[in-house]
Amino acid sequence: MKVIAILYKGGEAAKQEPRLLGTVENELGLRAWLESQGHEYLVSDDKEGADSFLHTNIVDADIVITTPFHPGYLTRELLDKAKNLKLCVTAGVGSDHVDLNAAAEKGLEVMEVTGSNVSSVAEHVVMSILLLVRNFVPAHEMIERGDWAVSDVARNAFDLEGKVVGTIGAGRIGQRVLQRLAPFDCKEFLYYDYNALSPERERELGARRVTDLKNFVAQCDVVTVNAPLHDGTRGLVDAALLQHFKRGAWLVNTARGAICDAEAVAAALKSGQLRGYAGDVWDVQPAPLEHPCRAMKNPLGGGNGMVPHYSGTTLDAQSRYAAGTKEILENFFEGRPQTPANVIIGTKGYATSSYGQR
Ligand code: NAI
Repeated sequence: MKVIAILYKGGEAAKQEPRLLGTVENELGLRAWLESQGHEYLVSDDKEGADSFLHTNIVDADIVITTPFHPGYLTRELLDKAKNLKLCVTAGVGSDHVDLNAAAEKGLEVMEVTGSNVSSVAEHVVMSILLLVRNFVPAHEMIERGDWAVSDVARNAFDLEGKVVGTIGAGRIGQRVLQRLAPFDCKEFLYYDYNALSPERERELGARRVTDLKNFVAQCDVVTVNAPLHDGTRGLVDAALLQHFKRGAWLVNTARGAICDAEAVAAALKSGQLRGYAGDVWDVQPAPLEHPCRAMKNPLGGGNGMVPHYSGTTLDAQSRYAAGTKEILENFFEGRPQTPANVIIGTKGYATSSYGQR
């Protein structure tokens, strides 16, 4: 079979660090195994435009592997051209770069390595909440500059203790964030999700469900976004919703950039409506130099905890999603059933309720 993969360029770092498996250089560690099975394996980062590697090679590929970190967009138009395609594998979690409705209509299977990096992201969320609430970035920048003015940073630093934290999306990551925040003695944990947790799970997490989004954000000091990107979440956090946030709230988004309106977030930060915004996901990746989320600040000059998309691609995560990709391929080649949680689109269409209510 012809297997193609769109991965990000790792450059010198990938040559020096073979555990950077998700790179073009290290090819998810699949080459020797795939070739020993008689398969053809082509890997590139070139994914945009009609002449790109992705657009020209998908035409006769049987399997395409992509990652959310350098998304190879599998649009309906592109899937129309992919006459031999049977399986799309996301090496990681989050398949919004695949037109899932088109894949379902065409009988293509779409798999993710579910759970492979959810702890990695949850840790990043906890870190981001803390660095915003405690005003860490400006304090560190002050030290690098050679300054020392405690009040300048303490005037915008708070404790997480006693605050209300809410997650939009209470799936694997959202729940792990709340679990990890348990010892911080927050005032309350809230969640907003069309899939209710069981009463027992709510009790374990100490989380209360709020079914109205405006009402939910109005109660939170910290909002963390942990829902997939789909038609129901694109632009969910826009200028209108931000008006309903508590003034001076913190917002962390490690889910997908396009869930939050970047211009609206930057404006809310500038006005002080938001005290901070952090995350690793951008509506355009790589983010252009002039992207509003790169340099936005709150009125006191802090509140920006943005980094490139890497929370789910720690070396530990890479080893898990590379192994998970191999397992999905093995199951496929040998006609074995896939691990149910990995199936986004199966032979009978949507196999998950995470990508919108239907
Ligand atoms: P999951 O499928 O376990 O949970 C997602 C939850 O979001 C589900 O409970 C679902 O019902 C809920 N949801 C969906 N639409 C919603 C809506 N409109 N409003 C409220 N809740 C909604 O997914 P998991 O593993 O927790 O991952 C969530 C997302 O995080 C992924 O889809 C991906 O976009 C992102 N992610 C980001 C990574 C990174 O490196 N920054 C790495 C891994 C995931």
